[in-house]
Amino acid sequence: MKREYIFIGPPGSGKGTQTIMLSRDFKLPHIDTGALLRAEIASGSEIGERANERIKKGQLVPIEIVSEIIKNRLKEKDCENGFILDGYPRSLEQAQALDRIFEEIDGQNKTDRKVFYFEIEEDSLVERLINRRTCPKCGEIFNLKTMKMDKAVCPHCNIELTQRKDDTVEVAKARFETYFRETHPLIDLYSKRGLVCTIDAAQDIKTVYAQLKKAVEKNGN
Ligand code: AP5
Repeated sequence: MKREYIFIGPPGSGKGTQTIMLSRDFKLPHIDTGALLRAEIASGSEIGERANERIKKGQLVPIEIVSEIIKNRLKEKDCENGFILDGYPRSLEQAQALDRIFEEIDGQNKTDRKVFYFEIEEDSLVERLINRRTCPKCGEIFNLKTMKMDKAVCPHCNIELTQRKDDTVEVAKARFETYFRETHPLIDLYSKRGLVCTIDAAQDIKTVYAQLKKAVEKNGN
């Protein structure tokens, strides 16, 4: 059955880290709205310019931009058997837009749709965010502090890791506010539909992945 997984959780809760592993193991495309928007910014497109204004303030990018990007991406061939949505939807309005996209791409077909909620207290997350580094080549996510790295170099690609511009204390705080105001209410919405599976995201990376994999295997076909 087509697997349609939605990852929701505060910034730094580990959605990206876990999606990369699940995507490899289950051969599901990783649809990361933040990364798609950052690629638009890097390309210098008009969409990227508009997105950048919001991202640097920790605010949501306008719905017409994100939902169009997602709709087009989910129609691509590699999403035929499923996908992992990491960072979409992030508001009730986006959840309604996603309902319409699902109607369009799936019609009456039965799918394995699940929402994984990465539950964790906010306290530890700023520390995770300001120490996050990413490989610009393979996309792997690292943490200078928790992974005790001697140097900020990707062990697979041997190139210098980069830091996201929005991973500062100030922007992180704005992102948390945006998350709790706009995104967190989706847990209630999806719980009422019986779709939510809560993951204890405060555990170490391997333990979180074990929980996630178990939940996927239990729910999948
Ligand atoms: P986006 O890129 O999606 O950022 P986010 O939601 O804030 O989430 P993060 O990527 O910061 O965190 P994560 O949960 O993926 O954590 P990660 O695995 O990297 O969005 C950026 C911006 O784009 C938004 O602010 C918004 O402006 C815009 N945007 C995106 N989607 C949008 C949408 N749908 N609508 C409108 N605007 C949108 O891990 C973080 C760190 O913690 C890493 O260093 C990692 O190594 C470490 N770590 C991970 N797991 C663990 C663990 N279990 N224990 C210890 N450390 C861990």
